[in-house]
Amino acid sequence: MILKRIFPAAPCQWFVSLVALALFAGTTHAQTARTYSISALDISQVEQGWGEPQANKSVEGHTLSIGGQTFTNGLGTHASSEFILDVGGRAESFSAVVGIDDEVGKGKGSVVFKVLGDTNQVFWESKELHGGDAPVAVNVSLADVKQLTLLVDGGESIDSDHADWADAKVVMTRGRPSVFSSLKEEAIILTPKPSPKPRINSTKVFGVRPGAPFLYTIAVTGDRPMTFVAKGLPKGLKLDPKTGCITGSLKEKGEHVVTLRAKNALGEATQKFKIICGAQIGLVPALGWNSWNCFASAVTAEKVKSVAAAMVSSGLINHGWTYINIDDFWEVHRDSKDPTLQGPQRDADGHIIPNPRFPDMKGLTDYIHVRGLKAGLYSSPGPWTCGGCVASWQHEELDAQSYGQWGFDYLKYDWCSYGQIDKGDTLPGLQKPYRVMRAALDKVNRDILFSFCQYGGGNVWEWGAEIGGNSWRTTGDINDSWSSMAGIGFRQNGHEKYAGPGHFNDPDMLVVGKVGWGPSLHPTRLTPNEQYTHISLWCLLASPLLIGCDMTQLDDFTLSLLSNDEVLEVNQDPLGRQAARVAQNGQLEVWAKDMEDGSKAVGLFNRGYSETSVTANWSELGLAGKQKVRDLWRQKDLGEFTGSFTASVPRHGVVLVRVWPAK
Ligand code: GAL
Repeated sequence: MILKRIFPAAPCQWFVSLVALALFAGTTHAQTARTYSISALDISQVEQGWGEPQANKSVEGHTLSIGGQTFTNGLGTHASSEFILDVGGRAESFSAVVGIDDEVGKGKGSVVFKVLGDTNQVFWESKELHGGDAPVAVNVSLADVKQLTLLVDGGESIDSDHADWADAKVVMTRGRPSVFSSLKEEAIILTPKPSPKPRINSTKVFGVRPGAPFLYTIAVTGDRPMTFVAKGLPKGLKLDPKTGCITGSLKEKGEHVVTLRAKNALGEATQKFKIICGAQIGLVPALGWNSWNCFASAVTAEKVKSVAAAMVSSGLINHGWTYINIDDFWEVHRDSKDPTLQGPQRDADGHIIPNPRFPDMKGLTDYIHVRGLKAGLYSSPGPWTCGGCVASWQHEELDAQSYGQWGFDYLKYDWCSYGQIDKGDTLPGLQKPYRVMRAALDKVNRDILFSFCQYGGGNVWEWGAEIGGNSWRTTGDINDSWSSMAGIGFRQNGHEKYAGPGHFNDPDMLVVGKVGWGPSLHPTRLTPNEQYTHISLWCLLASPLLIGCDMTQLDDFTLSLLSNDEVLEVNQDPLGRQAARVAQNGQLEVWAKDMEDGSKAVGLFNRGYSETSVTANWSELGLAGKQKVRDLWRQKDLGEFTGSFTASVPRHGVVLVRVWPAK
């Protein structure tokens, strides 16, 4: 990969020195200069991969301690971490003592601390530091610097990366440092409005088990009214020509190629559609919504219904979005004082009873199905869910039957309190609860997608498919920060060999739109470019795409992110491939995946802090000769290119293209 920084070289008066803190605390400027502790600034703006930033404490709230030495002042954070300060060209220097906090134990964690200037010039960089290493002092001159960035890079794994900027301070000649606030980006909508003519966007391949109820909605954009035709539908299935819903069931195993047709006053679209009746369902990643990242413990049936209605009224259903998944808190809570979470946990025969917020599960899934959508639910193999509600321990078969009778099509199964049953320190132990629920679901005459949630334990990607998972979480929970989203997304490299039709890696749900994990919501803290990166990367990764926001409050920008059919096609490609990183140079990365038609989807990513050009070399993509390149977000051909393609990519942004051999 060839890189060209757009910004000029750093002024030569900037220098970096690694000297003892004592030397730095000289008196030369003492009369005018003032020292400001980093921990006294608005540290809520620190972006970090885990936990919350702490003033004068470690990320876990202990006294700051590095290599046995304790500190009363400083910032406790966690890789990957970024804190950007506005020092306005009035700072003299920055100093700190850095290292991994002793709370993680000797040898644990591995981070590199970095201090960056205006153009992301690296002023200073530590060596790789681990738990127990001696503290390292940093002292950087900041003459003329406006923007100071403190970074902690956690590399591929951020496990135990509890990073301390102890005694971190800026000496100012005038004014005070503040937290950088000019990073606001304009939310530019790149996705063109859908054409009024019909375009079929639904998945091209669909797995169903013999005998199981069939529900497939032909997703089509274009003006209404629209009529639908399906030529070659096998016996047992029927199409509603007005809604485009195909229902029924198939008796026998087999493959059927159907021609779908959608027609309105302006034209007609056709699309081949392959139905594979056999053991495997979920042949492409699930597209849908989940309640956790917005409502969390505040979910109710009414909210779920309003989201299902919004999936239709927003038009997202016409782009292929299907699942409406209820996460935790539909069950009775073990000890909540909230009456809407109280009640009998199970009936006399052991059947689970939803909490009073969900008085009619069958009515709820009917509401969802009648709109051409599907419904999902959540449980844990332990006695309690992560939120402390009733879970499936020793009731797996009964629960699976209830899910089937109620009409659910998706189950997220979250390890959580199963830790009380098995420590999860052996592979058979980790697998057992998922095998038990797999067997229980197999007895239900309904196709229920099975989503493992155990945060990647035991390298689940290596065995998730073998024990019947349609997807498996590869990480802990995501949040709406750059460090969380990018940290998770870019760590997926290497998992690509385990993804394929019917079984996908799941780097957790989407954090665009209004999120909040509770009753009060806020707009995602990701910048617009970070959101483009999020959706592009998750599409390249062939991850299940589960929208995490309140769908009733969709703004135009969020809608545009979720309704770009050429981008979604990258995710829904029938080959089911997951992208891998093909080139990396510092913060610049190129990821690519093979598409069914022989083309490649390619993401040019800039994880750095200013606009930079990124090049994808054909040789790194296994390509040669002239290639046609199309910008997928803008849905625009960019021309034919020989040897490579270069694009200018914004801070934390992406250019997503598709590449075909030129004719
Ligand atoms: C977590 C899980 C989240 C959410 C939550 C519910 O363990 O990772 O996605 O399901 O539990 O309590």
